[in-house]
Amino acid sequence: MNENIKIAVIGLGYVGLPLARLFATKYPVVGFDINESRVTSLKSGIDSTLEVNQQELQKVLVDKPTNEYGLFCSSIPADMLDCNYFIITVPTPVDRNNRPDLTPLYKSSETVGKILKKGDIVIYESTVYPGVTEEQCVPVLEKVSGLKLNVDFYAGYSPERINPGDKEHTVEKILKVTSGSTPEIGLKVDALYKSVITAGTHLAPTIKVAEAAKVIENSQRDINIAFVNELAKIFNLMNIDTQEVLAAAATKWNFLPFKPGLVGGHCIGVDPYYLAQRAQEFGYHPEIILAGRRLNDSMGEYIASQVVKLMIKKGISVNGANLLMLGITFKENCPDVRNTKIVDVVKSLTEYGISVTIYDPLANIKEVQKEYELKTVNSIPNDKFDAIVLGVAHAEFLKLNFSELQKDNSLLYDVKGVLGAIADNRL
Ligand SMILES: NC(=O)c1ccc[n+]([C@@H]2O[C@H](COP(=O)([O-])OP(=O)(O)OC[C@H]3O[C@@H](n4cnc5c(N)ncnc54)[C@H](O)[C@@H]3O)[C@@H](O)[C@H]2O)c1
Repeated sequence: MNENIKIAVIGLGYVGLPLARLFATKYPVVGFDINESRVTSLKSGIDSTLEVNQQELQKVLVDKPTNEYGLFCSSIPADMLDCNYFIITVPTPVDRNNRPDLTPLYKSSETVGKILKKGDIVIYESTVYPGVTEEQCVPVLEKVSGLKLNVDFYAGYSPERINPGDKEHTVEKILKVTSGSTPEIGLKVDALYKSVITAGTHLAPTIKVAEAAKVIENSQRDINIAFVNELAKIFNLMNIDTQEVLAAAATKWNFLPFKPGLVGGHCIGVDPYYLAQRAQEFGYHPEIILAGRRLNDSMGEYIASQVVKLMIKKGISVNGANLLMLGITFKENCPDVRNTKIVDVVKSLTEYGISVTIYDPLANIKEVQKEYELKTVNSIPNDKFDAIVLGVAHAEFLKLNFSELQKDNSLLYDVKGVLGAIADNRL
């Protein structure tokens, strides 16, 4: 690509920061975020999400906007004035009724609209339902800038597929779907990503196709996990080990290897609601998608009930028992606690009169307290417990000496099925 490319990445979270760092190895990049404390720590090379290590970040950081390659982090919109590619990576949550909340997309589109110039390209990466880019975001860009799509400026959509905590499948190693508001812009957007994504790109024919592709990837995972969660409930009733059944079935070449468990976080547990909402607007009531959501959302309470039943079977007095919950984050080896379903397990266990100690070496104690009003500890408690629940498979937990933490008659429940024979039971 030989044009004078200057990129702004708006929203420096789990998705935006790794992407901004990658582009900054080749282009001048301004990383913009409204969270000033996030920008301050990034400027000093610290990424609290643990997605980009300090050395990698320091390598690209620059202390003022540059015309060479490098990443300048800022919370001042004017620092993006010279940019001609704007990539928006802000959150797309749901509200308390599980309806899509597009506020961060509207607000970031307003920010970009104010500095948009003729010829610029605005690419959205946030996960959305088909139609959000062209029908919700572009009108904001047009209104605020006074410019017209495909006449004065252009749009694109390129969904992100990273998997936080996964140091193997990093952004450049994951094939990226791209799209543009015209065929020519599609090619330009595609070329931009192709220049840094070593795994290559797939240029989708339209923005809506690219939007739909992303939302169904996560919905498919949600539905498949819901299916194995249902199987776990059935096999528990039959006293059959689900993990053993799955291992046997997985020997067939086309059996999909999904595992039962909690579906938290702000992607797989949220994105199906985006698709469902849009389907309903078209008069279609999705059955499978919403059934999957309901089933997965019921798993926290189910796990707590299983733990209590097993404690009773072992003759452990439930009311007043002390239990160690290992992990509070929504997934392994990642500090993200947003929408973690461990909270449902803890709430349910507490209702049975169990005193729960939560140990998580990665979670931010203050954030857990603020979000869930729950106390967490970052170091291993010096105590013995009536029950231990391995809720999150952080690498650190796999090295624990469980017998040191267990009373003589104690239950070890392995939600993730990673402890094998040493656990009393697993989902
Ligand atoms: N985290 C993942 O695993 C993942 C994977 C693929 C796709 N996605 C999607 O990518 C999008 C971003 O997710 P994330 O996990 O990076 O979120 P995040 O919460 O980690 O980061 C978002 C950042 O955007 C900033 N922000 C919010 N409003 C802003 C605004 N108006 N202007 C500028 N900055 C603003 C926030 O301060 C935050 O730092 C979502 O749509 C998500 O569904 C996430």
